[in-house]
Amino acid sequence: MSKILVLFDLAILLLLRAVNSANFSEIFQPNWAPDHILIQGEQISLSLDNTTGCGFESKKNYLFGKASTELKLVQGDSAGTVIAFYMASEGSNHDELDFEFLGNVSGEPYLVQTNIYVNGSGNREQRHSLWFDPTMDFHTYSFFWNRHSILFLVDDIPIREFSNKEKKGIPYPKKQPMGIHGSLWNADDWATQGGRVKTNWSDAPFVATFQSFDIDACELSADEVDDPVVKCGKLGKFWWDKPVIKELKQQRKRQLNWVRNKFLVYDYCKDTTRFSEMPKECLVD
Ligand SMILES: *[C@@H]1O[C@H](CO)[C@@H](O)[C@H](O)[C@H]1NC(C)=O
Ligand SMILES: *[C@@H]1O[C@H](CO)[C@@H](O)[C@H](O)[C@H]1NC(C)=O
Ligand SMILES: *[C@@H]1O[C@H](CO)[C@@H](O)[C@H](O)[C@H]1NC(C)=O
Ligand SMILES: *[C@@H]1O[C@H](CO)[C@@H](O)[C@H](O)[C@H]1NC(C)=O
Ligand SMILES: *[C@@H]1O[C@H](CO)[C@@H](O)[C@H](O)[C@H]1NC(C)=O
Repeated sequence: MSKILVLFDLAILLLLRAVNSANFSEIFQPNWAPDHILIQGEQISLSLDNTTGCGFESKKNYLFGKASTELKLVQGDSAGTVIAFYMASEGSNHDELDFEFLGNVSGEPYLVQTNIYVNGSGNREQRHSLWFDPTMDFHTYSFFWNRHSILFLVDDIPIREFSNKEKKGIPYPKKQPMGIHGSLWNADDWATQGGRVKTNWSDAPFVATFQSFDIDACELSADEVDDPVVKCGKLGKFWWDKPVIKELKQQRKRQLNWVRNKFLVYDYCKDTTRFSEMPKECLVD
């Protein structure tokens, strides 16, 4: 218990600012099957049945900063279903940061898959189990993103860091503003136990609820992308660009190690049967 409390203490950097959560309709709009989306103030429920899933997207795009949502996953039998909370730019050379929640049969654990696309290429999956039951209560899932690194956070505990290693020839997303998206869909060809367990439609509708969105990021529209890094980071005028205090950096490392040791289930960088040549970023550290 005390160990967990210490870990909770460690995310101070990311909490240095006031939290202001937003009215869903001011920031987002449904973009897939609006009739399966129920909006109630700042709470939004997505529903999946045998006719369709559904989804929403932000009206604006962002470069750098932090984007969070609270999310309660599908209760009971969620096998075959996937809930996504992700950021993505447009076009075939797009950048993307993903949280994907892979459902399971009743009583078996959800997995959280994260992925990163840079300039149109992904294949950077990691999978984690969680230290709580994500279907019982709301928990906070966030992206933190600046020129130097990307953090995926669960209740403000980093579960994954992707650092900028452009100096070693590894691509890093830092030019394309991304929209913020949420969706729920059927993925029973791969999501649960490798695709062996299919969606049981007699348990539909499957419902996931988002709330308390918090976006503190640099808004950037497509016609402003001449020098996005200047507007959204280079001058160090934003909180997300302040140098990390050494102590916090060490704390973050400790947290990441804790998560890696206890909850990491799959790491593409360890999957030597999948890649004939390991991705470059897996070879440097
Ligand atoms: C949320 O924003 C929408 C659009 O601006 C507005 O119509 C609605 O009344 C707001 N709802 C709440 C609960 O503030
Ligand atoms: C979808 O589910 C509804 C309600 O359970 C059912 O009546 C219908 O036959 C199903 N449709 C298909 C294509 O399975
Ligand atoms: C992005 O990918 C395209 C090919 O799809 C390539 O031509 C371009 O050089 C790449 N850009 C960067 C910054 O790597
Ligand atoms: C579902 O439960 C099984 C059995 O506990 C587990 O092996 C698997 O990793 C869980 N998650 C998914 C998404 O399959
Ligand atoms: C599907 O769900 C129904 C209702 O919960 C249950 O009776 C049935 O056994 C389930 N089917 C499978 C294949 O698990």
